[in-house]
Amino acid sequence: MNIVLGISGGIAAYKTPELVRRLRERGADVQIVMTASAEEFVTPTSLQAVSGRPIRSNLWDKEAEAAMSHIELARWADLVLIAPATAEIMARLASGGAPDLLTTLCLATEAPIAIAPAMNRVMWANPAVQANRKTLEKRGMQILGPDHGSQACGETGAGRMLDPDVIADAVCSPEFAGASADGVLAGKTVLVTAGPTREPIDPVRYITNRSSGKMGYAIAAAAHALGARVILISGPVSLQEPRGADVVHVETAEEMHAATHERIADVDIFIAAAAVSDYRPSEASAQKIKKTKDTMTLELVRSPDILASVAALDDAPFTVGFAAETENVREYALGKLVNKNLDMIVANRVGADCGFDYDDNAAEVLWSGGEKAFDKMPKSELAAGLMDLIAARFFATRGAETQPALSIVSIKE
Ligand code: C5P
Repeated sequence: MNIVLGISGGIAAYKTPELVRRLRERGADVQIVMTASAEEFVTPTSLQAVSGRPIRSNLWDKEAEAAMSHIELARWADLVLIAPATAEIMARLASGGAPDLLTTLCLATEAPIAIAPAMNRVMWANPAVQANRKTLEKRGMQILGPDHGSQACGETGAGRMLDPDVIADAVCSPEFAGASADGVLAGKTVLVTAGPTREPIDPVRYITNRSSGKMGYAIAAAAHALGARVILISGPVSLQEPRGADVVHVETAEEMHAATHERIADVDIFIAAAAVSDYRPSEASAQKIKKTKDTMTLELVRSPDILASVAALDDAPFTVGFAAETENVREYALGKLVNKNLDMIVANRVGADCGFDYDDNAAEVLWSGGEKAFDKMPKSELAAGLMDLIAARFFATRGAETQPALSIVSIKE
């Protein structure tokens, strides 16, 4: 999980190096954004050392903006966590003002925002602060704490920042990332390949497939919503990474093959939604090829079949393939189900009016002894339906597993 940790200027900021360490221990990448007053309480040097990333604080820092603009940073975040959140930053968030980098980021992000307020108990009880808290809560922000106890100012009451361990536990829980802890796939790992691959001809040209990656990304999100740990191995696409998935970016079929096999050992369900290039140039030219001849011939060699190689493993996970075809969809899909030794295949027609790049899709799912058709619908809905079906078949075929109650209706077997 990518966390933008916003630190505002309260005395509890001295606990933030500890918080960064607790978040990183739980696997989060942490990018710190400080307000100017936070620097009065904790040094950027300490925070840079524990986070392993340069600290961001100034919206007008040209060098930092060139490396990763505040908009890119807003997109990068799976979560914006502000800890400590002072009365002042709460007021700025509630009013929608954006005078600095942190508040600008909060307006520009689609990621969830959580705040851990910390202030003197009388300030916390102040009706203006409480009104801001209610406004932020109504807008969907998570308010973590504050805690009750002795305060840095010598008083005792509600207003202490929650313990760093408690904050880290809260924001790194699957429920927080939108996954359901009691989802049917809780405790299972799902690996999804998505998008096209690019096979270089020379440094400026490549062979690829038409694929937006939308279906694979939607499946990764749907698997996460069912509680699974999700690994998404993605070819080059221009999509936002789905929340809660570990995303591995690759370019070529060979890289996708290697990235898949490096991670397959603990995978329960493998879903190959990528449009892998079946052939690649036998040699990629080191220099740009000049157009000196009227015709040219490229020698192509077969790329590894990732799906078939996973299905052939001794301890193969439940394997699901896709068959995107322009004709004889069902016949070709059945051939792949049998020849690649798959547990399930999702067949869909692609062409001028459907499939690639479209937001809607229809599909026919086939497995040994059953089938189910999905009418045309948004890819996100189709992905949710497919994941329910995949989970049902996974539990049905992996007999030793205890099958939770599933809400699949009318599977024709
Ligand atoms: O054989 P075909 O390419 O039509 O099969 C499509 C299915 O196989 C898809 O699930 C695709 O992701 C997968 N595939 C693969 N590696 C390849 C070619 C296809 O994983 N080299």
